[in-house]
Amino acid sequence: MSDNKQQPTVHAQSPTKGIEDAMKRIKHRVVVFSGKGGVGKTTVAVNLAYAFAESGLKVGLLDADITGPNVPQMTGLVGGLGTQGGMIVPSEVNGIKIISIASMVEGGTPIIWRGPLRSKVIDQFLGEVQWGDLDILIADLPPGTGDEVLTIAQHTSPEMAIVVTTPQEVALIDARRATNMAKKLEIKNIGIVENMSSLICPHCGEQIDLFGSGGGEKEAKKLDVLFLGKVPIDPQARAEADNGRPIVLQSPQSPISQAFIAMAAKIRETLK
Ligand SMILES: Nc1ncnc2c1ncn2[C@@H]1O[C@H](COP(=O)(O)OP(=O)(O)O)[C@@H](O)[C@H]1O
Ligand SMILES: [Mg+2]
Repeated sequence: MSDNKQQPTVHAQSPTKGIEDAMKRIKHRVVVFSGKGGVGKTTVAVNLAYAFAESGLKVGLLDADITGPNVPQMTGLVGGLGTQGGMIVPSEVNGIKIISIASMVEGGTPIIWRGPLRSKVIDQFLGEVQWGDLDILIADLPPGTGDEVLTIAQHTSPEMAIVVTTPQEVALIDARRATNMAKKLEIKNIGIVENMSSLICPHCGEQIDLFGSGGGEKEAKKLDVLFLGKVPIDPQARAEADNGRPIVLQSPQSPISQAFIAMAAKIRETLK
């Protein structure tokens, strides 16, 4: 079935004054999404956030994956959230302001909320959080094209959508949907990231294309959107992420970190 046959289910719901005021203080809003789970959205969102911060930007990171909030795990964020004057104070980890639903519920508790409630939480994360003046706010979205994605897109007017995919066709099909959604939402800049592009064998040094390679770049050309770069598979990055240490901070010289740093520079150039 072609994407063109479907009409977008975009509900016209205006952001509150509180959201509008908060967004005005944030220079650039960027959303990270994908058609599929497990392709590396959170990994990309977290490492780009730190790559931006290392280059001197004031960065906010919004964990908008309400039912699978992984940002705290990957950034080492512990503890709950504070409030001040009726506003939520974001947590700060290594200089980045972070908000996640995981800071409000006990670990392992399932978050079984329907779409409208998830959207309501997103609105609170936008309008009732003391983000202050930021250069960039990155939203790590849930997989797919559901309610939260629409809410964020309508209420933050993002200037850029980053679509994360892995190189194999089943991931690319979903990345195509996500890219077409970004187009329908009229997000000005759309860029594709090919994650888990290849693995360097730790024993023989040979490059293994576990999921193929080059699919993301080809897809970007076909869809006439930016290609932001390839990110290799790095087992150390996975291990560090599991322990709350983003690889960009932990091993900035490694090929995977250099890929994120180059990508961040490309995004800054695009947003200028
Ligand atoms: N390039 C990579 N190299 C090694 N591990 C990766 C890479 N990208 C993602 N991972 C790991 O794959 C898993 C899924 O990534 P994640 O960022 O949580 O995906 P998503 O947010 O799309 O569900 C995580 O354990 C993460 O550490
Ligand atoms: Mg995730």
